[in-house]
Amino acid sequence: MKKAIYPGSFDPITFGHLDIIKRASNIFDELTILVLTNVRKTPLFSADERVKILEEVTKDMPNVKVGCFDGLLVDYAKKNDVHVVIRGLRAITDFEYELQTAQTNRLLSQGSLDTMFLTTSLEYAYLSSTTVKEIASFGGDISKCVPDFVAQMIFTKYGVVKNEQ
Ligand code: PNS
Repeated sequence: MKKAIYPGSFDPITFGHLDIIKRASNIFDELTILVLTNVRKTPLFSADERVKILEEVTKDMPNVKVGCFDGLLVDYAKKNDVHVVIRGLRAITDFEYELQTAQTNRLLSQGSLDTMFLTTSLEYAYLSSTTVKEIASFGGDISKCVPDFVAQMIFTKYGVVKNEQ
């Protein structure tokens, strides 16, 4: 069985992440979306909230599982016998960090964990969770960036009341 992990902060999931999930789940027999800690970021949503959101948006994808792990990706991969990591690449600005992380994970896993990159579909190339949160915090329109219920959850976090038209 071909298995892969799609790790990330997913704080929160965007349509860009969803695009990668759909495409990766068509390539692999089993895809685990793994909520991990990024020490460079302070999340808006708890890990538990992010897992619940991911479970909701992937409920109709039978070969997609959602997990959460507070540790190194390589340790999770070893424990679960997974050898492929999926990451999305939006633009050249992502490349340096992604290359460094992919090489580090190969090194830490003694070559047993490889990273495959899927290029983000062009319509989502501009999208990031950070930008979405910034727009939402000022009450802006994020309907083209995240599913409706996720948008509502973000506005609630920021105490933004949106008037339905
Ligand atoms: O969505 P993000 O924030 O770009 O995802 C980054 C993430 C969470 C995948 C990365 O920070 C990570 O792998 N964290 C787990 C800890 C780990 O394994 N660190 C070593 C990476 S070299």
